[in-house]
Amino acid sequence: MKTNAFRALVALGFASGACAAPAMQNVYARTGITLDGKWHVIVDPYENGAYNYRREPLDASPNPSSGYFLDRRAADRTELVEYDFDASPTLMVPGDWNSQQEKLFWYEGTVWYRTRFDHSPAPGMQRQFLHFGAANYQADVYLNGAKLGRHVGGFTPFEFEVTGKLKPTGNSLVVKVDNTRHADAVPTVNTDWWNYGGLTRDVTLVETPRILVRDYQVQLAPARAAAATRVAVSVQLDGASAPTPVTVEIPEAGLRATLTTDAAGSGRTEIPARNLSAWSPQQPKLYEVRISSGQDRVVDRVGFRRIEVRGDQVLLNGRPVFLRGISLHEENPLRGGRAYSEEDARLLLGWAKELGCNFVRLAHYPHNEHMARVADELGLMLWEETPVYWTIAWTNPDTLANATNQLTELITRDRNRASVIVWSVANETPVSEPRTRFLRSLVDTARRLDATRLVSAAMEVHVDPADNDHRIVDDPFGAYTDLLSFNQYIGWYDGLPQKLDRIRWTFAYDKPVMISEFGADALQGMHGDALTRFSEEYQEDLYRRTLGMLSRIPQWRGTTPWILVDFRSPRRPLPVIQDGWNRKGLIGENGVKKKAFYVLRDFYLRDADAHSGSR
Ligand code: GCU
Repeated sequence: MKTNAFRALVALGFASGACAAPAMQNVYARTGITLDGKWHVIVDPYENGAYNYRREPLDASPNPSSGYFLDRRAADRTELVEYDFDASPTLMVPGDWNSQQEKLFWYEGTVWYRTRFDHSPAPGMQRQFLHFGAANYQADVYLNGAKLGRHVGGFTPFEFEVTGKLKPTGNSLVVKVDNTRHADAVPTVNTDWWNYGGLTRDVTLVETPRILVRDYQVQLAPARAAAATRVAVSVQLDGASAPTPVTVEIPEAGLRATLTTDAAGSGRTEIPARNLSAWSPQQPKLYEVRISSGQDRVVDRVGFRRIEVRGDQVLLNGRPVFLRGISLHEENPLRGGRAYSEEDARLLLGWAKELGCNFVRLAHYPHNEHMARVADELGLMLWEETPVYWTIAWTNPDTLANATNQLTELITRDRNRASVIVWSVANETPVSEPRTRFLRSLVDTARRLDATRLVSAAMEVHVDPADNDHRIVDDPFGAYTDLLSFNQYIGWYDGLPQKLDRIRWTFAYDKPVMISEFGADALQGMHGDALTRFSEEYQEDLYRRTLGMLSRIPQWRGTTPWILVDFRSPRRPLPVIQDGWNRKGLIGENGVKKKAFYVLRDFYLRDADAHSGSR
């Protein structure tokens, strides 16, 4: 399952030194030691630890004599060493730096992280990998002074094999994390979310036998007329050099099968499966799945379900469904900063359940793995997205390779999550030929990597020049997606809420319409009449009228209003009201629900399912 994208990245010399490898599947089920905790840090806005005063990279020479990655201390009183990790402050990992220290709140640039650890191989384990859940945005990783490589992209996992490179004691792991924004990056320089920097997710030393089950996908095979239900299994071993047997078991369903890989360790099979209960929001049934080969065994919890579109319907397990959704950023407003833990996922997705949701849009970048695993358990369907947001450098091949890699790493990580039903490749990107070509390439990548899910993006709407109350969705990219999903802010950025009562829509495609964003800012606790912007009453009225407008659209099949809870944004300076928060949440950053929360909940509990399109 090594992707062309991965090879493209290597070919493009995307990394100085080695390119981080796509991470192995299901790391949380693996043997290993956590490297989470307090790491010493050096804040280095001038990248003094990486470049000399001639701006020449210090790690380029075979035996570098200086550079923070060497993690050295003065040997004696005569030696000049102008940094000292041991004497430097610490930051918690996982965690962003912005919410941990007031003086780093606005900081964008380089921070060096260092931890030390001892290692004695676990019994039966011959290989070791350093696994990172994510690091925003660019991470250069050094072990015992030697460069392992670089990873670019702030929201997906990566790893480096360190077999044979570890010492019994005092291993020095140094990571240079740089969250500087760049025009040719993904995302680019302008976003409406906080650019949290750091080692934002778990860091783990993973141990495996010589041959390991690196990647696998276990899901219902695409339906074939009259054919019995089958489970399709594909496996990729790492370390195999000859055809190798692999056993797949689903004990609770009485299923067991053995396949033999090819010499490169790749294999697939289909297992007839008569009595599997389908996963759904009403019944989020998960099965234990065991995949073993030689000394290695991976255990996962997998739900089996089918998701497809037929005409303007979305079908879950063959039945029309309405996507009662909400959008969400990966932030824990109560603690502040990036969300990263299972507890954070339970807090945020718990609120979505309270709202009556069966669907959540994880915007605008891959959230941590706990989100999808908790969504599996809670019975929430998910829309996952790559941060191709607003004005990306469409004609830059490195930018496309970067976006392709982030999408590939996301799909590789979450391909066994029943909750994930949509891969979204972009948000609010202006229509142009180069843009549509760029996005089509991402759609092709998604469909090649995973034919079992829907693909979409948050597209744009335009106004009929002849009629200001007429909205048209005919984005050329809509021809390549399974859903016709778009953002609309009528009543907030576009007129007042009354306008919603007059709007009519035209869609260029006979596809399920999914409104990926609508909403209005409201400061929790601020009250006024329904025309007072930023009041709860304005937001409440806008929700009521928007749901009325959408209910008049025959092919309307779902929505993910913007947004579940207020979130930090550097684009929202309005004193007293915004103070650096986007206030479109239905819940304030204090966890208190606003009036509109109940408007949407009541609609979801009473009326929404009538719009599933079931005939
Ligand atoms: C946009 C965008 C969001 C943004 C929202 C807003 O549509 O997709 O990222 O936060 O609108 O303006 O509040």
